[in-house]
Amino acid sequence: MGSSESKIDKHNLSNDSSKQTPRTNDESVVNVGSSNDETKKSASIFQSPKLDDSTPKKYELKPAHVNTLVAKTWNPNDPKSWEPEMREYHALPNSDYMLPDDAAEQDRLEMQHYVLRAAYQSDIVCPAVQNLVKTPGYKILDVGCAGGFWLKCVKKDNPQTECHGVDISQTLVNQPTFQNDGILLQFGNVLEKLPYEDNTFDYVHQRALVLGMPREKFPDALRELIRVTKSGGWIELVEADIVLYNAGPYSQTLTTAAFDGLHRRGLDCYAATNLPFYVKQVSEHVEKEEQKMVHLSLGWGSKMGILFGADIKAGFLGLEDWMHKSMNLSREDYRQLVQGCYSEWPQHKSFGQFRALHFQVKK
Ligand SMILES: C[S@@+](CC[C@H](N)C(=O)[O-])C[C@H]1O[C@@H](n2cnc3c(N)ncnc32)[C@H](O)[C@@H]1O
Repeated sequence: MGSSESKIDKHNLSNDSSKQTPRTNDESVVNVGSSNDETKKSASIFQSPKLDDSTPKKYELKPAHVNTLVAKTWNPNDPKSWEPEMREYHALPNSDYMLPDDAAEQDRLEMQHYVLRAAYQSDIVCPAVQNLVKTPGYKILDVGCAGGFWLKCVKKDNPQTECHGVDISQTLVNQPTFQNDGILLQFGNVLEKLPYEDNTFDYVHQRALVLGMPREKFPDALRELIRVTKSGGWIELVEADIVLYNAGPYSQTLTTAAFDGLHRRGLDCYAATNLPFYVKQVSEHVEKEEQKMVHLSLGWGSKMGILFGADIKAGFLGLEDWMHKSMNLSREDYRQLVQGCYSEWPQHKSFGQFRALHFQVKK
């Protein structure tokens, strides 16, 4: 990798994850209920925060201790990781992606979709594509499409668009409803070869793949997205930082452990922050790059903040099979820890951040 690697590493290797202030000087920022008082006043959908002072009593907060071997090697398809109460996962043996693909996770992603749509005021962030997508026969691909909810929304507004989705979960891509909606979903792994010819799509969208994209493979995965995109077509990436900002004690305990474990698995807890540095690795194919960062209040500030709090809480519960083992906590203690975070977010005005970045492909 080139000169940007040191910056990527700097963000990844910091242990004081939850106290960092997001960098905002190099991007356009939409503050949606951020902790900044000035912007809070002007963020129309985040008025009259409701504070929740309730403190969980059951879980006694202790310093996070991560079993590094479990954190690193846990794999939902490895019998050594299996437990009776486990949730359902994709069945790809060589992928250690560790969020479930069950109905509860689909509900969470649907919630998250509405939060992001409100924050970016559109399903498609790139202004050029917002117009082009109305062209009959415009061909789009969603990579890591899960249950295809984003595609369904785009197709509803643009019925003439040809919609394709690809995911490592066979369960999700086989859902019959999508074939009926004229959306073509199929199995595919962006870390290997996507099942499409070169130069197939006008627009390729990839959102929230942070837990499926090891740092070292990120640039090659971008090259794969570029391969299937037409010259002059667009790529849009939307990613979150896994750390939470303005974290209280429960959130610091949880995110420090998560950060440690994810880093050992080669993942990037600062995917939103680092997105531009990954894109720099493929700069020979990048034109007209634009980006937009959003700060989202967690469980406070407005209905959308409440929804985002529920989304992130469900996300941490989705990581329970991996996290409770790697933190060496009982399931009950882990759930109490997550509940502790959820209860303290309003008090600490905690927030998370996403970055949307798009560029036109030059070949
Ligand atoms: C957090 S979900 C996000 C889903 C959707 N993009 C959204 O924003 O609602 C991540 C999805 O990416 C899929 N995924 C993980 N690794 C992948 C890979 N290497 N190739 C394709 N899909 C992958 C997962 O199965 C999951 O459905």
